[in-house]
Amino acid sequence: MSEEKVLHPTTIIIFGATGDLAKRKLFPAFYNLYIDGRMPEQFNIVALGRSENTNKNFRNYVVENLENFSRKKGTPKDWSGFKSHITYFQHQLDQEDSYQALNQKLEDLDKAYGTRGNRLFYLSIAPNFITTISNHIKNASLASDPAKDRIIIEKPFGHDKQSAIELNNLLGETFEEEQIYRIDHYLGKETVQNILAFRFGNSIYEPLWNHNYIESVQITVAEEVGVETRGAFYEQTGALIDMVQNHLLQILCMVAMEPPASLESGEIRDRKVDVLKSIRRISADQVSHYAVRGQYGPGIINGVESKGYRQENGIAPDSNTETFAAVKFYLDNERWQDVPFYVRTGKKMKEKHSYITIQFKPLPHSTFSNSSHHLSANRLIINIQPMMDIRLQFMTKKPGLSLVLEPVEMIFDNFACQEDTPEAYETLLLEALLGDLTLFMRSDQVEEAWDVVKTIQESWKNNKDTSFPNYAAGSWGPEDSMELVKRQGHKWV
Ligand code: BG6
Repeated sequence: MSEEKVLHPTTIIIFGATGDLAKRKLFPAFYNLYIDGRMPEQFNIVALGRSENTNKNFRNYVVENLENFSRKKGTPKDWSGFKSHITYFQHQLDQEDSYQALNQKLEDLDKAYGTRGNRLFYLSIAPNFITTISNHIKNASLASDPAKDRIIIEKPFGHDKQSAIELNNLLGETFEEEQIYRIDHYLGKETVQNILAFRFGNSIYEPLWNHNYIESVQITVAEEVGVETRGAFYEQTGALIDMVQNHLLQILCMVAMEPPASLESGEIRDRKVDVLKSIRRISADQVSHYAVRGQYGPGIINGVESKGYRQENGIAPDSNTETFAAVKFYLDNERWQDVPFYVRTGKKMKEKHSYITIQFKPLPHSTFSNSSHHLSANRLIINIQPMMDIRLQFMTKKPGLSLVLEPVEMIFDNFACQEDTPEAYETLLLEALLGDLTLFMRSDQVEEAWDVVKTIQESWKNNKDTSFPNYAAGSWGPEDSMELVKRQGHKWV
């Protein structure tokens, strides 16, 4: 977020470099930064994998995948330039001597480049390996310089509040908090970052941004995809933990936070933690009142028949895992008292669409109330993806001889302004290379977010939902989610 920071020579060490995330997101992101001239002048990517491989083979594998997954295609010169920075290194995650050998390799690279560059460790591995890797990094003194060495950790960060605290403590034995970059890739999305600019870069919205003018806030992250090849992981996770605990709560924080005094990372993260702390905690017997879960059954998506969750690979035929979650949150603070924040997310829904709706209150008294005009209350919609825009809905007079009102939209279209929008991982990796923590999760943010969902998580784990499957693939989720908002006279936009 801070343009002034400088890119220092860096060695990037990717654990899990042969995995899916590296192939689809990490290498393409580094490559795009490289084409854009946003990588450090001197950098090496040390790709760690279990099997024997040669540099040549691995580099070719990366380039082949860039053709499929990179936003920018670049030229053969870009490919060969980029791949010359990649070194494959055979490595066993659980073997001490493998880390000693890695240390030697990193020192050799430092010598070859005449500098001890920064080290950026990227853990693109299953969460159960974090402890092992962190301990070995410590024992082999791989990250011995707190001013230069950083670690990036993918979600899920723990599996509940207690495990997140333990993980934070463990990482704290090797790294200072300022060296730990916990990724929530939603924070790297262009439209999510724009919330900050939109709210705090204008004077006209902020005075209205509170319970006096806003009736409700909705956050929807609907996915068209199912669990694909991640059945085993998803069975243990479910929508609440996979999406609400992190992505949706982070979006909620951006919408609800108080204005930070500056763009300094600590300041912004403090304001987000304030929001999480203010979210009203519910008791176990209130869970069904505030939260709805769903699981998709067979259905039709875009005219094509689609399997139910229980028929997917790796899923138990009587699975109780939710693929849909909707929650109503209240924030107990001065700004948001009594304003419901509805969030929902689901897999195999009608369409892929993530958006935020700020629903303003209707007029207290309308000049037009005695006529036949139907006045829609103002609404602001922030489309996160695939559309990326901000729309303000308001009433105007329909052009013509009579006084007829109609709702219209004023739109800021991100694509129209810049077709070439960076992917979330590009933004986040650049920030990590620059050493800016603003878009990453601090330990207390993660722990507090776990605390917010704790009661729902426990209740859903301990009580089976006998109505599963309760929504058809290709629909907008279970009927109960409509009820959740209807009780207050609202409906999902
Ligand atoms: C991930 C979840 O964090 O986010 C996935 O684990 C989900 O289940 C994905 O599909 C959604 O990300 P995006 O960027 O495609 O909206």
